[in-house]
Amino acid sequence: MILPDFVQRDVALDRLNTFALSARAAWFADVAEPAQLVALTRAPGWRKLRRFVLGGGSNLLLTGDFDGLMLHVCIPGRKLIAEEADAWMVRAGAGENWHEFVRWTLEQGWPGLENLSLIPGTVGAAPIQNIGAYGLEVAERFQHLEALDLATGETVLFDRAACQFGYRDSVFKRAAAGQYLISAVTFRLPKRWRPVTRYADVAQELTALGITHPTATDVSDAVSAIRRRKLPDPAQLGNAGSFFKNPVVDAATFRRFIARYPDAPHYPQPDGAVKLAAGWLIERCGWKGRNLGSAGVYEQQALVLVNRGGACGEEVLRLARAIQDSVQTTFAVALEPEPVVL
Ligand code: EPU
Repeated sequence: MILPDFVQRDVALDRLNTFALSARAAWFADVAEPAQLVALTRAPGWRKLRRFVLGGGSNLLLTGDFDGLMLHVCIPGRKLIAEEADAWMVRAGAGENWHEFVRWTLEQGWPGLENLSLIPGTVGAAPIQNIGAYGLEVAERFQHLEALDLATGETVLFDRAACQFGYRDSVFKRAAAGQYLISAVTFRLPKRWRPVTRYADVAQELTALGITHPTATDVSDAVSAIRRRKLPDPAQLGNAGSFFKNPVVDAATFRRFIARYPDAPHYPQPDGAVKLAAGWLIERCGWKGRNLGSAGVYEQQALVLVNRGGACGEEVLRLARAIQDSVQTTFAVALEPEPVVL
């Protein structure tokens, strides 16, 4: 196969996934501008080549070597592209680091993304799983995104409706999975801003700091402090954030569940279904702080699986399956993994 010069052979992925799992890619390319993808689509053999789009590697479980081309998105740039009566429109390259981008918007005086501070990963990955934390999902600040069609190299625009956002979900995890490389995202940041402090953790953190009228930066600092306490820093302990989604059960299942476990945290959804706290279910099954081989369950937050050092992806998967079995047997609730398993 003849691929452009910027494609490298046999590249280690260990430092490119926050779980710090060992794996190699047969081919690898840093994609810093859309023209590179256009060049790739013209290469003979392109259509048959397996490919995978890699952002910050913070929502990824590598279970072995990848026998294809890993496209590492490094597209830079951040800019105010329009100012409307009620909003700032800010566009960022998909390769920008998410948290640095959030802090930059706050420095510019454009609030709105502060509740999503310190989430690992890149701007381009944010809409794929509709990242969310502390009362806000990225969908609420989203205007549109530009995506490169991996078959043709053409740029396609997706507005909010086209993205089909859901809880940790979008069209890019379903019908459009594997078909696009997101190259840039435009956010709509509100001029009439009010802090989102309805999450008890955030409200308590601000109260403890003596802040009654928080700025967006205060909220960002509070969220960052909570995350640093509850979630392991991937630079010190390999992990991919929450390993499971919080399960959403129908009203009848919920009634049976809550009759038996009246103290379980739960969050009613607009459609009558109820979201349960996976971390609570896992902790109640006795998994918090436990290890299986070199894979473990984080001591401060049972929803986070960690690499205690030298774990392989299969080991993490084995632990995940054991947890799923326990929760299914004990509570009759199915847990679904959040990271992409490759
Ligand atoms: N809980 C336990 N034991 C645990 C963990 C949690 O009993 O080990 C209980 C807590 O006491 C609380 C409830 O479960 O009553 C919910 O816990 P928490 O507020 O910590 O949030 P979460 O539901 O575990 C979700 C997101 C996080 C996000 C936080 C804050 C998912 C899968 N996870 O976690 O997102 O930061 O809310 O908004 O929705 C991620 O997706 O990677 C992630 C870290």
